[in-house]
Formats: sequence, structure tokens, C-alpha cells
Amino acid sequence: MPHERFHFKDRAALERKIADLDLEIPLSDDISILFSHVVVARRVLPNRFIVLPLEGADGDPDGRPSELTRRRYKRFAEGGASLIWFEATAVTADGRSHPRQLWINPKTRDGFKRLVKETRLAAHRKFGPDHNLLLILQLTHSGRFAKPEGRPAPLIAQHNPLLDAKLGLSPDHPLISDSALDALQGDYVAASGLAREAGFDGVDIKACHGYLVSELLAAFTRPDSRYGGSFENRIRFLVDTSEKIKVGVRGLFVTSRLSVYDSLPYPYGFGVNRDDPGNPDLGEPVRLIRKLRNIDFPILGISLGIPASQSHYGRPYDKPLIGQELPDEHPLVGVARWLRLTSEIQKAFPTLPVVGAGYSWLRHLFPHVAAAMVEREKVSLIGLGRESLAYPGWVNALAANGFLDQRKVCVCCSKCSQMLRAGRPVGCAVHDAETYQVEYREARKRAKEIRRTERKTARAAGKGRKRKV
Ligand SMILES: Cc1cc2nc3c(=O)[nH]c(=O)nc-3n(C[C@H](O)[C@H](O)[C@H](O)COP(=O)(O)O)c2cc1C
Repeated sequence: MPHERFHFKDRAALERKIADLDLEIPLSDDISILFSHVVVARRVLPNRFIVLPLEGADGDPDGRPSELTRRRYKRFAEGGASLIWFEATAVTADGRSHPRQLWINPKTRDGFKRLVKETRLAAHRKFGPDHNLLLILQLTHSGRFAKPEGRPAPLIAQHNPLLDAKLGLSPDHPLISDSALDALQGDYVAASGLAREAGFDGVDIKACHGYLVSELLAAFTRPDSRYGGSFENRIRFLVDTSEKIKVGVRGLFVTSRLSVYDSLPYPYGFGVNRDDPGNPDLGEPVRLIRKLRNIDFPILGISLGIPASQSHYGRPYDKPLIGQELPDEHPLVGVARWLRLTSEIQKAFPTLPVVGAGYSWLRHLFPHVAAAMVEREKVSLIGLGRESLAYPGWVNALAANGFLDQRKVCVCCSKCSQMLRAGRPVGCAVHDAETYQVEYREARKRAKEIRRTERKTARAAGKGRKRKV
């Protein structure tokens, strides 16, 4: 099913394509269910919409949210979603994905406090004091993708020939030690304490997209380690850290954005069928979620894919990053994958508020799919990523008019991803061009350098492998 750009004017045209491709993507005309209440962490949320975590690469060098960061969140808060899931925020300096990633520590705590205060205030001003906005901070260590000074400084949980080659890592590149992982648990707990002081309602131990905690879930080949090999060992970091936060940080809930399907072949991917990496096997993710549920997770964000490997799995798009090929997969196949995996997790945990994603590619037609998913109890909450950057007022527009303005929706052009890749401030270069066009231009220039470095790295890795043989 070859790739195709979005060109569907209305629901009927989209339905015809879905039927042609023989996919299971439900649609509903009545979208009112998206404005029904839902209870999360004993709070009644006014609608089903969530702003998904979106790394902005616009923090100050010390990790503090900048004016541009605060602008992004103010726009999200005024947009009308009931929950904002704040972006990947480092818990240690060496875990930053680039020098402008947010980093929560005692020195930056007050910057986060201001961010939370201004975000809540923006929502209260627009919707009144009863608008119950829930705020979750995503905590992370970037692991093999760490670049705290702008150059790769990978900390890996296990060797992975597919991803090692991209970074030019030799087979003797050291693994992060068990004692470092023990200590890192403490860093997550300390960061959670600071997040509570800053005013967040909950924290998310990010366990998706190939970053450290996600890589640990798939650390089948990590030798002689309490964090590798067996299922119990691989989930130890996430489970133990969650328990410690729950016990040690009162007044804050803990959750995770969990990759339920990495798409990397066994023994390097989590949630993957051992004989066929093209097919998920949700056996282990379901066992893990059962444990997390016992630690009182009041909500669960799910994700899939590893952007560095198959970016279209997590975010179906029209145009790839500069220099990358278009995938040989119709974006609707990607959307259907998202919906299927989300509904399988929701079915396994019917009372757990599960957050699904992957809707932005559907443009102005996404509410029909989202409503059908909620109506059929295939998901509880609808997360929007790129759409939140392009059209932050989408919830208000839907509430007021019942439809979205086709001229304002995300066009899935990958420019925001390109900006993140280049470590430039991230926003919508199409619909928020006055602020971000110039950043995109810089990112485009940087793309050439990144490509050159990647080619050199891949060549060097290839030569290294030949020499070893
Ligand atoms: C620029 C950019 C930054 C992102 N940053 C994060 C992040 O910090 N944490 C995370 O879990 N996902 C992140 N994502 C993934 C999104 O949250 C979301 O899962 C993905 O874009 C698919 O949803 P969409 O189709 O609505 O965009 C990012 C995506 C983009 C495009």
C-alpha cells in the first residue's frame, strides 16, 4: 500500500479510502461524546482532549523554561484541552537530548513553578476558575540519544546493532552500569519532588521512543545485570522507580508514556512478536501495565515506534525529514495501527483512562474517528501532538462550531520534527510562521550538516565492523 498524501475533502472520501485499503478505522458523525466528562486521578475533566508531550528545544541553557516555552504552554492552555502532558524534561544533565532540553533541578525549580502558574492562569482567564486543567510533567533520560553539549554522548542499556550503527558505536562501547541505574532512580524521585513543588499534578516516567527507560524494557541481551534479561529484570527500573515516587512524594501521581510496540526485531524491541517484528505482541506490555495499575497509575499514555528508526510508526506524515525516504506504507495503515493497539490496551484495562494518539494526520476529519473510538470504548482520551502546535485552539473551535477550519490544521510536513532534530526551538513553521519560520530556516541549514555527519558515522561503523570480522 504505497504512501499517499492527505487529500480527503470530507468524511465520505476518507471512508472510501479506508474501505479500499480494507482497514479498520471507525468514524462517527456525532462528536458530542468528545465533550463528555471523564474522571482521572479523582478529578473530573471537562472533555476528552489532551495536548501530548512535545519537546520544544527552547529551554534556557541551564534547563529552565524560557519565554518561548511559556508562550507555547499558554497557547495550549487557552486551547481548551483538559490535560496538558508536558514535554520530555531531563532529570540529570547527562540525560539531556540537546543543550536546550528542559531540565528540572533545584536551580530551575522556580522556572517550572512560573511555567505552571502561568499555564493555569491562562486557562482560568479563558474558561473561569472551574476549568480543571490537569498537568503532567514527563521525566526522561535520553540514554543512547543523549546530547547534552550538542554532540552525541550515548549512555546505552544494551548493544543494538541497528541503532548502534546510526551512532557509530563500537561493540565495546560501555553499558550504563547497574549502580548508575540504581542512582538514577533517586534522580527521578528527586525530580518528582521538585515537580510537585512546582505545582504539577503528576509525573510520567517516559518509557517510549527508545530513550533509556524504554531501551531497558527491551534489554534482553544486557549481560549479568539486575536490569536485563528476564521480564522482571527489564521492567525493574520503571516499576521500582514508580513505587519509590508513589511512596516518597505525596500529593503527586505517577504514570508513564509507555511504548507498547517498538517495531525493532527481537531481541531489541519491546512488545514485538519474536518471529515477526512487523507484528506486535502485547503480552509483555499487558503484564507490565497490570503491575503499574497496582501502583495506582490513574492514567496511561501509550506510544509506539522509535523515531530514530521508523518515525512514521509514531507520527504518520505527508513529507519525511530532509534526506529521508518516504515510507512504503500508506499513512492510514499507520493510523489504523495506532487505533488497533490503543483499543487492545483499553480492552485489557477497561477502567483505566488510556490516552491514544496518531490522529493529526487525519486533519479536520480526526474528530469523527476520535468520537467513534470513545463511543465504542476503544479509548478514553484523545491525544494530539503536532495539531497542538499548528492549531492550538482546536478544542475551542470544535466546541463552538462542531468542526475544524481546514486552513488551520496540521499538514504533517515534518518541519517541527526537523526543528527538534536540529536542536532549534520547535513550533509550527506553517501556521505560526511569524515566530517559527526563521527557526525552520536554521533547522534546514543544519539538516545538511547532520546528514554529512550521519553518512560519515555510518561509513566509519561499516569499516569498523568489517575490520572486526
Ligand atoms: C516535534 C515533536 C516533539 C515531540 N516530543 C515528544 C516528547 O517530548 N515526548 C513524547 O512522549 N513524545 C513526543 N513527541 C511525539 C508526540 O507526542 C506524538 O506521539 C506524535 O507526534 C503523534 O501524535 P500526532 O499525530 O498527534 O502528532 C513529539 C513529536 C514531535 C513531532
